[in-house]
Amino acid sequence: MTKRVCVIPGDDSAPEAVLPVLRLLRLMELDLDYVELPAGDEGQARFGEDFARVCREAIDACDTTLFGSSSGKTPALAHLRWGKKTYANVRPVRYIPGARSPLRDAEGIDFVIVRENMEDLYVGIEGDVEALRPAALTGRRGEPLPEHGRFAVKVITDANSRRIAHFAFRLARQRRESGRPGRVTASCKYNMLPYTDGLFRQVVAQVATEYPDVEFRDYIVDDFARRIIADAHDLDVVVLPNLYGDILSDEAAALVGGLGVAASGCYGDGFAYFEPVHGTAPDIVGTGRINPTATMLSSAMMLEYLGLGEAATSLRRAIDDVYAEGSVLTPDQGGSATADEFCAAVAKRL
Ligand code: IPM
Ligand code: MN
Repeated sequence: MTKRVCVIPGDDSAPEAVLPVLRLLRLMELDLDYVELPAGDEGQARFGEDFARVCREAIDACDTTLFGSSSGKTPALAHLRWGKKTYANVRPVRYIPGARSPLRDAEGIDFVIVRENMEDLYVGIEGDVEALRPAALTGRRGEPLPEHGRFAVKVITDANSRRIAHFAFRLARQRRESGRPGRVTASCKYNMLPYTDGLFRQVVAQVATEYPDVEFRDYIVDDFARRIIADAHDLDVVVLPNLYGDILSDEAAALVGGLGVAASGCYGDGFAYFEPVHGTAPDIVGTGRINPTATMLSSAMMLEYLGLGEAATSLRRAIDDVYAEGSVLTPDQGGSATADEFCAAVAKRL
């Protein structure tokens, strides 16, 4: 049966990447139907308050979503992540020869960040410390709560840590079949946060014992932020709580060409959606200068998810070819091509 893809262009510069990528996907003549929503400004003008509901209904009516990224005008992210419980945010960090890396030798970098996507500081509970007073909380060294100030809640659960750990170990096994080392690296701040991050660490280590064939390492997150750069070639699958995963995935992207090439997919049970790691690049809106590679590689992940593995492979190959050839790249990669021109170059090689 023909699968349906909800396409949400998003805000600011994001549609300038999504729309040419959608044209490219259409050229591929896959057995897919595309349900196209308007970009943020137009969606707001047309639907106002109802735009969130319109997005939600379109997402629910489709098998998957390609999402461009939003600065708030397109109210879809909350539904895509928490509404659809897409708990595993998968962010490949693979160097494409020809991309612009600050490393002398980026060739061979090929790892995947698996970011827990539901909890941690993203539970979104903040308030004034006065509200905590009745709980009579004290710090680890017995210090009382400050008189005034604000707090944020960080929640780490056994269940969600276990679920993301299994996801990471399964992925490591899968990648080993295509020649990767079969190694999971976990990281968090377990020394300072022994109760929350300590739980994450403990649960992942426990899950590791169920996968004796997969090598397991873990590091404190500040140390690991350095290792991502120093030991990038040794990484395979990296599993992280939500906030560190957010921060370190941007850091990792820098190694292989920046946010312009950083793809992601968020997977739940029975649903997944795909989006570039980058934001909406409001500083270059209207210039056509956004690099659509991140959106394109996210689409390749989507094709794989939809069972169109061959199409995904040929799309990736075409992208690799354009980078290797090097004459039609966007400004972030040292070229002068627009998003449209880059997409046309990829289309020609398909
Ligand atoms: C990302 C983004 C989001 C996040 C923002 C837009 C809420 O930075 O997907 O990495 O923090 O998860
Ligand atoms: Mn981010």
